[in-house]
Amino acid sequence: MHKIIVTGGCGYIGTHTLVDLISKGFYVVSLDDNSKSDEKILKGVESITGVKVKNYKVDLKDKKALFEIINKHKDAIGIIHFAAYKSVPESVEKPLKYYANNIQGLLNLLESVEKYNIPNFVFSSSCSVYGNVEKLPVDEKTPLGITESPYARTKQMGEQILIDFVTSNKKTKVILLRYFNPVGAHPSGIIGEMPLGIPNNLAPYITQTAIGLREKVIVFGNDYATRDGSGLRDYIHVMDIAAAHTSAIQYLDKTVLKENPTIFNLGTGNGVTVLEVIKAFEKTSGQKLNYEIGPRRAGDIEAIYANNEKAKKELGWTINYSLEDMMDSAWKWEQKLAKKQ
Ligand code: WQD
Repeated sequence: MHKIIVTGGCGYIGTHTLVDLISKGFYVVSLDDNSKSDEKILKGVESITGVKVKNYKVDLKDKKALFEIINKHKDAIGIIHFAAYKSVPESVEKPLKYYANNIQGLLNLLESVEKYNIPNFVFSSSCSVYGNVEKLPVDEKTPLGITESPYARTKQMGEQILIDFVTSNKKTKVILLRYFNPVGAHPSGIIGEMPLGIPNNLAPYITQTAIGLREKVIVFGNDYATRDGSGLRDYIHVMDIAAAHTSAIQYLDKTVLKENPTIFNLGTGNGVTVLEVIKAFEKTSGQKLNYEIGPRRAGDIEAIYANNEKAKKELGWTINYSLEDMMDSAWKWEQKLAKKQ
C-alpha cells in the first residue's frame, strides 16, 4: 500500500484529500501543528473511511522535529503539502508571520525531501498567483501578475522555490495545483470547512448568515464589468479538488514529466458571480438569504475563471459536483456544526 505524507492534513482541503486518498487505497500520515485546525476532525475522516489517521502535531518551522518524522516515513512515495496560513486579510495585517510560516515551512520540508529522497511532491497553490488578469479564462501559461496580498505572494514565491529546487535537485518530481475557489463539504456532512472567527470567504459567510450566526451578507460591489456587476469567480467543490490531489500523486508515480514542475489549474471552467452564488444557495437550501450590496473589498480582483483542459487531459480529472452541490453540502455541514454547539 503506497504511503503518502499529507502536511496540513487536519485542514479543510487536507481532510477531504485524506478521505479521497484512503478511498483509493493509499496509506496516509498527517503532519499538522493544529494552529488553524483541530485534530478531532480526523475522527470524521475515520468515520467516513473506517481508517484511523495518525497526525504528528508538528510545526514545519521546527526542522529537527520535522526531519525525525520524515525519516520515520521516508518510504512514502510522495508528500502533499497543504500546511500554510491562507487568510488574505490576516496576511496583510501580519506579513512576517505569513512569510515565516509559509516560506520557512516549505524550505524545511524541501530540505527533508532532499535528505530522505522523497520522489514526488504536490504543492497547494492558488489562482491568486495570477493576480488581475486581462484575458479570461486563465490557462497555466498565463503570465503571473502582481499579487494582491502577502498570502498570494507566498504562493507565487513557493512556486518559484519549487522551480529552483527541481532544477538543482533533478530527482524529485513536482506538481503545482492552482486552486480556484474551493467550496462545499463531504456529502456525508461529517467533515467540512471550519473557518476560525469571522469567515473571509463567501460560502461560509453565506451559510453562517443562513444559520443565524451573522446578520447579513454584504455583496462587495455590484459595479464590476460582469453579467450582474458582482465579482466573478470559479467555485469548485472541495471533493473535486481532493480527487485532483490523488490523481496528481498517481500521475507523478507513473509518469516521466515533460516539464518539472508541471502546473495544473483546478477550477470548473465556469465563472459565477456573487449574486448567482446567493441565488444558487437560496434555491438549494430553500432559505431566503439576508444580503445587501456594499462597497468593493480592497484587493479584490474583478473576475477570474479557469481553463482546466490540461488537468482534464493529463490527469484524467473530471468535475463531478455542481454549484448546487457545493451550496447544498456547505449548508448541510453548517447545520451539522450548529447541532454540535
Ligand atoms: C469570493 C467573491 C468577493 C465575501 C480567496 C483567496 C484565494 C483562495 C480563496 C485560498 C469575491 C465576494 C466575499 C463576502 C462578498 N484562498 N464576497 N461578500 O477573494 O476570490 O479568494 O479565497 O486559497 O487565494 O484570495 O474568495 O470567498 O473571499 O470572495 O461579496 O462576505 O465573493 O468580493 O468576489 P476570493 P472570497
